[in-house]
Amino acid sequence: MQQEVTNFVFHNPTKIIFGKNQIQSLSALIPQDKKILITYGGGSVQRFGTLDRVREALADHKFGEFGGIEANPTYETCMRAVELIKSEQFDFILAVGGGSVIDGSKFIAAAAEFTGDPINIFAKGIGSGEEIKSALPLGTVLTLPATGSEMNSGAVITFKEKKAKVSFGSPFVFPVFSILEPELTYTLPKRQLSNGITDSFVHIIEQYLTYPVGGARVQDGFAESLLRTLIEIGPEVIQEDKHDYSIRADFMWTATIALNKLLSTGVPGDWSTHALGHEITALNHTDHARTLSAILPAVMMVRREQKFDKLVQYAENVWGITDGSEEVKVDAAILKTAAFLRSIDMPITLKEIDVKSEDIDYLVEQLDIHGNSHISERGDQTLAVSRAIYEKALELDF
Ligand code: NZQ
Ligand code: ZN
Repeated sequence: MQQEVTNFVFHNPTKIIFGKNQIQSLSALIPQDKKILITYGGGSVQRFGTLDRVREALADHKFGEFGGIEANPTYETCMRAVELIKSEQFDFILAVGGGSVIDGSKFIAAAAEFTGDPINIFAKGIGSGEEIKSALPLGTVLTLPATGSEMNSGAVITFKEKKAKVSFGSPFVFPVFSILEPELTYTLPKRQLSNGITDSFVHIIEQYLTYPVGGARVQDGFAESLLRTLIEIGPEVIQEDKHDYSIRADFMWTATIALNKLLSTGVPGDWSTHALGHEITALNHTDHARTLSAILPAVMMVRREQKFDKLVQYAENVWGITDGSEEVKVDAAILKTAAFLRSIDMPITLKEIDVKSEDIDYLVEQLDIHGNSHISERGDQTLAVSRAIYEKALELDF
C-alpha cells in the first residue's frame, strides 16, 4: 500500500531580499544598536568590491571584520572568530560569501552563546551532540548559489586533524535575512558555477528520488520543476562570461528553494549521496559538488530496485521520456543524468576525483564512525550497500 505524506510543521523564518542593488538595504535590516561582525572567506568579496559595498551600506553602524573562513570551513578557524566575538562583544553576525562562509558563521553564531565546550554542538563521533539553546542573530549576503545555507538551519564543519566533515542543525541558526543579488554571481569562475548547479540538483534529487508518497503532488511537482529548470539553464549558467540576469536569477532562486525545507515537507529523504560525498572531501579535499556528481549515477544504479517507481516518474516528468518499457525509461533517465552532469563539466566517476580502490575501506569505515551505517529513505543502505556504491562509482566508465 502506498505510504501517505506524514504530518509536518513548516516554518522558515528567513526573510529573503532578492534582486538588484539590495545590499544597500542592509542598514535598515540590522538594528542600529547592534555591533556587527562581518565574516567572509578567502578574499573574493574584497577583490570584487562586495565588501566595500557592505561597508558603505553599514557606514552608520558599528562593525568589525573577520576574514579567512576557508572553503569547507574548519572548526579551528571558526573558533578564532568566536574568541573575537567574546572579547569584543559583537552581537550580530553578517556573513558575506558562499555556503562555507555562511555555514562557518552559523557555527560561530551558535558557539558564541553555547555554555560548555562548543565541540559538543556536534555528535557523530566528534562531540556529545548537545542541544543548541540560542545563537547570535545572523544575516547573510550570498555570493554563490549552491548550498541553500542562506535559507536553512544546517551547517557542515570540517575537523582538519580528524579528517571529518560533520553537520549540525538548529532552528536558532536560520539566518534572520539573506540578500540574494543574482549579479553577484557574475564573478564566479566556471568551476563554481558548475558546482552550484550540481549541488542544487543533488539536493532536489535527494528529497525526491525515494518512493512514491500519497498527498505529495506539491512536493513532487516543485522538485520536478526545479530539476527541469536546472537542466535547462545549466549549460548557460556555466558560461562564465554570459552575464544574463534572467538566467542567473533563475539559478539563484532555484538553489535557495532546493534546500529550504519546502521540498522535504512530509516526505522521505535519502541523503546518502551527500553522506558518501562528505567522506571523500574529508579525505582528499575534492569540492563538495564534485563528490556528489561522481557518486550520484552509481547511487541510481545500485539503488535502482528500491527507487524504481520514483525513477520511472523522474524519467517521464523530468526528462520527458515516454517511449519504451519502464525498464528502458529508467535506463535512459540514468544515462541522461550522467550526460547532463558531464555537459556542465562535472566528474561522473570516482576515478576523475582521485579516489582509488584502496581508499574504499577507509571511506566505509568513516561512514560507520559518523553514524551513517543505515542511511537512505528506508534506512536500508547498510555499509555493504555503500561499499557497493563506491565500487560502482569507481568502475563506471561512461
Ligand atoms: O573564499 P572566497 O575567496 O570567498 O572564494 C570562494 C571559494 O573559493 C569562491 N566564491 C564565492 N563566491 C564568489 C566566489 N568567487 C568569485 N565570485 C563569487 N561571487 O568560491 C569558492 C567556493 O566557495 P564555498 O563557499 O566553499 O562554496 P559553496 O557555496 O559550494 O559551499 C560549500 C560548503 O557548503 C557545505 C559543503 O559541505 C561545503 O563545506 N554545504 C552546506 C549545506 C547547508 N548548509 O545546507 C548543504 C550542502 O549540501 C553542503 O554540504
Ligand atoms: Zn550539497
